[in-house]
Amino acid sequence: MLSKKSIIDIDSLTVEEVSQILERTDSFLEVSKRDVKKVPALRGKTIVNLFFEPSTRTKTSFEIAAKRLSADIINFSASTSSLKKGESIFDTLKTILAMSVDLIVVRHNCSGTVKLISKTIDIPVINAGDGKYQHPTQALLDLYTIKKRFNDFNGLKAAVVGDIVNSRVARSDIELFKKMGIDVTIVAPSMLLPDNMDYYGTEVKNCIDDVIEDADIIYMLRMQFERQDRKIYPSVREYNKFLGLNTGRLKKMKQGSIVMHPGPVNRGIEISEEVMNASGELAGKLEIENQVTNGVAVRMALLYLILS
Ligand code: CP
Repeated sequence: MLSKKSIIDIDSLTVEEVSQILERTDSFLEVSKRDVKKVPALRGKTIVNLFFEPSTRTKTSFEIAAKRLSADIINFSASTSSLKKGESIFDTLKTILAMSVDLIVVRHNCSGTVKLISKTIDIPVINAGDGKYQHPTQALLDLYTIKKRFNDFNGLKAAVVGDIVNSRVARSDIELFKKMGIDVTIVAPSMLLPDNMDYYGTEVKNCIDDVIEDADIIYMLRMQFERQDRKIYPSVREYNKFLGLNTGRLKKMKQGSIVMHPGPVNRGIEISEEVMNASGELAGKLEIENQVTNGVAVRMALLYLILS
C-alpha cells in the first residue's frame, strides 16, 4: 500500500495504511532491542536527510532508522552547502537526485515546501516537519506510543494543550488521533488558536484544569517562540497558571493516564522542572522518552514499507 508513496500529511494516509505502519513498527521495535540492532532490509538503498531547519530528535531518528535497515544515509547540511553560494533549493535537489538517491526526508521552516518538492521530483519524499503545516511522522510515533500504553484507541480522550496556532505537531496529531477514533479536546486561549477552528471539529477549553482529571492523554505542545513574529501570550506566569503542567496537576490525573510532549520541552513553561524531574509513580506517567524510542521504530517501518 505504501510502496513508493510520499508521506506529506496525515490527510493522505488511510486508516489501513496507518494500521499497517503501526503493525510493522512492532517488529522494528523488537529489532531496536536486540544486541545487534541491524537488519539487511534496505541494503543498497540511498536516503538523504535534507534539513533546512534545526532538529535533534527527527533527524537523528531517521538516521538511526536508516542505518538499522542497512540503508546508506547522507545528512545534507544547508548551512555548509552551495545554497550559501546562491544555488536555489530546486537546483540543489536536482543535483542530489543526479546521484541516484532513493528517498529524501525534508524539514523546512516554510509551510507547504515539502509538498511542493514532492510534486517536482519522482522519488518518495517524507515530510520531517514543515513550518506550521504538518509533522506526520511525529503524529505516527505519538499514535504508536498511545497504542503501546492503551492497546485500543476507542473511548480514549486526548487533550492537546498549548500553542495550537503555531504547531505542525498539533495539526498532524489532532487529525490522526481523530482519524483513529480518539476523542480530542483542544486546550488553549483564543490568542493561541487559529482562525479556522471549525476545521478541527473539536471541543475547545481554555484552561488545563478543565480536562486534567478526565483525559487519558494530556498532550503538551511546545511554545513555538521561533514562529511567533510578535509576543502572543502575556507572560510565562500567565501561561503556567492556565496551561502549565505542574506536580499538583499531575497528581490530579486519573489512574493509567499519560503525559506526552513532542520535545524539545521548554522546562518551566509547558512543563515544570519538578514534573520533568519526577520519580516513581508520577514519572511513570511521562511518555516523553518512550516517544523518542518509538520514533526510531516507526521511521524504520515507514522507510521499509516505502522502499522495500
Ligand atoms: N519533535 C521534534 O520534531 O523534535 P526535533 O525538532 O528535535 O526534531
